[in-house]
Amino acid sequence: MQPSNGTATTSLWSKVAVITDLFAFPLRTSHYLELVNPLWSTHKLQARIERVWDETKDARTITLKPGLNWRGHRAGQHVRVGIPVEGMHYTRTYTISSSAEREEQDGCFTITVKAIADGRISRHIVRNLKVGDYLPIGLPQGDFYLPDAQPVKPLFITAGSGITPARSMITSLIARERLPDSVHIHYAPHEFDMIFGQELRQLAQQYPRYTLHEVHTHALGDEQEKRRQCYFNEEQLSRLCPDWREREVYACGPPALLDAVKQLFEQAGRFRYVHTERFRAAFAEVPKDAVGGLVRFAQSDIAVQADHQTPLLRVAEDAGMNPPHGCRMGICHTCNTTLVSGCVRDLRTGKIINEAGSIVQTCVCAAAGDCELNQ
Ligand code: FES
Repeated sequence: MQPSNGTATTSLWSKVAVITDLFAFPLRTSHYLELVNPLWSTHKLQARIERVWDETKDARTITLKPGLNWRGHRAGQHVRVGIPVEGMHYTRTYTISSSAEREEQDGCFTITVKAIADGRISRHIVRNLKVGDYLPIGLPQGDFYLPDAQPVKPLFITAGSGITPARSMITSLIARERLPDSVHIHYAPHEFDMIFGQELRQLAQQYPRYTLHEVHTHALGDEQEKRRQCYFNEEQLSRLCPDWREREVYACGPPALLDAVKQLFEQAGRFRYVHTERFRAAFAEVPKDAVGGLVRFAQSDIAVQADHQTPLLRVAEDAGMNPPHGCRMGICHTCNTTLVSGCVRDLRTGKIINEAGSIVQTCVCAAAGDCELNQ
């Protein structure tokens, strides 16, 4: 599907649907078309899994063919994906790992998911999703992408699955034959843990303008202290990328890495040249005397004990509820509910919310004593 053709097809179809909807009432034509091919429906957006590919022992790339309403992404953007698991519906957000130009070839894009130890959904995606499954998806979103006016010299700093937007950007630049002098520093425990390792090493050999530095954080040993020596720091940065003060930074990875990058560039007066993409919200340190409490979900008539740091969204899901949610990091507000009584803490700021009727973003708030939510 060429994006331009896809847009034309969608617009033509919209005009036809105005007429055919009269005969389909009380449903819409799109509901009947969905029965023939879910990708033809226009009242909701779905994607079919075309291929699954294991990148490492715990990371899998999934190729998705989106439906008619899809619009092309910009390299670096993310997409929301609905995951049905045992009768529950979950939503997760993943960066699109393929280039924007890939969609112009076969109408598909990819997401690359790493199974994390306590991530039941990521483990389900990596182990159980199969070719032919249909998943509800959102439209591409996010402002973590290269500007149209090309950055002079990008410096990509990534770790773990944070490599996905960088891979999308680098392969997009190559596909457009606009690859500038680019340096990429990537952190992975071992060489074999690096997602897209083989591909990016080959690109680095093929394109002298793309320099890849791999930092293997377990190279000196598995102990925390030895690993710490391999973490991002100024000496290491200056050694791997001596001209870092002249570059525009695109960083994606765990909060500790992003905080360290921001701090260093802030000290160097280069803060405005740093662009970061987070997979989860940055949480403030929880006070030592913080306590959880009994959380009551009023509409569901469910009450469960919760600790002081587990987001209430997770508490609700663990209690068997299926509350609305999207980004799970405090951006989209899909998870908003109101406080009926009691006290919760915003984990990002540490701020206590205790006024009845206040909005509570359940994905970034935890119990701070007993509380009742209008959910
Ligand atoms: S799920 Fe997006 S703000 Fe909570």
